[in-house]
Amino acid sequence: MTVAQAAGKVILFGEHAVVYGRPAIAVPVTEVHAQAQVEPGQVGQGVVLLAPDLGRKVVVRDAAQEDPLANIVRRTLDTLGREPDPDVTVTVTSTIPIARGMGSGAAVSTAVVRGLTGYFGRWLSSRSISELVYETEILYHGTPSGIDNTVVAFEKPVYFVKGQGWEVFWVGKPLLLAIADTGIESPTKEVVGDLRQRYEADPDRYLPLFDGVTEIVHSARKAIESGDMDRLGELMDANHTLLQEMGVSCPELDRLVVAARDGGALGAKLSGAGRGGNMIALVTEESRGRVDMMLRLAGATQVLITEVR
Ligand code: MEV
Repeated sequence: MTVAQAAGKVILFGEHAVVYGRPAIAVPVTEVHAQAQVEPGQVGQGVVLLAPDLGRKVVVRDAAQEDPLANIVRRTLDTLGREPDPDVTVTVTSTIPIARGMGSGAAVSTAVVRGLTGYFGRWLSSRSISELVYETEILYHGTPSGIDNTVVAFEKPVYFVKGQGWEVFWVGKPLLLAIADTGIESPTKEVVGDLRQRYEADPDRYLPLFDGVTEIVHSARKAIESGDMDRLGELMDANHTLLQEMGVSCPELDRLVVAARDGGALGAKLSGAGRGGNMIALVTEESRGRVDMMLRLAGATQVLITEVR
């Protein structure tokens, strides 16, 4: 039997603009993870995927072409040069909240790839894993930038530009982040699609917003490398304002952002596609308790504190 895991992630800066070729920064969140357990199955069963959290059993040979779980299994076996339907059972579990901008889909796919690769005694580079997972991300999200599969597969803070690649970069001082859940699903595919329609109808309105994000991301990278927390907080606030102007926030996210700032966070913004999902706030050891409390009072259904190194 082989057990493999993959961490969650949050986007620190640059969501949405990243879909239009602007840079973005994302970091892994190792407090939550997806897990895939691969073990021998009964003779003749083929690949069976169990996802007890979702109440799903997928018999890969019978599954639709566009089923993301079956898809990642098929393409992984093909990449490994294995027979297409070996008798194995893959059990997938996850502590990453679903549809909250924390990369749960990418993490499940990554865990499955790692699990199958380990089970068959093989090795794949993080780059190959990321590329495999990207194809499945298309099934989940339509036109993903590729940032989720990259940060999840490499499990490092990344500076990412769609189509150009990514760089792992130096975190000068550990960042303490509060991640707070609105309790509302973030419909990534829909939010990304709606923004695309608005952008295509009026590019002159949206291009300056995307350019504004580029400047923020460049400054943020410098602030992260030099450990300038005050500046980083300001930049998070500025990025949130641009996301509001893009029309991807919602009252629940805005309420949590204000609550975090009132609680003493250095800055706060939505993270991921928005219209639900999570927001993130930059906190300190001194402010973390108060920010946590303020977020819960403002309606957060869950607050997770993570340290990024
Ligand atoms: C979703 O996690 C982040 C978006 O920028 C979409 C993407 O990058 O594919 C909204």
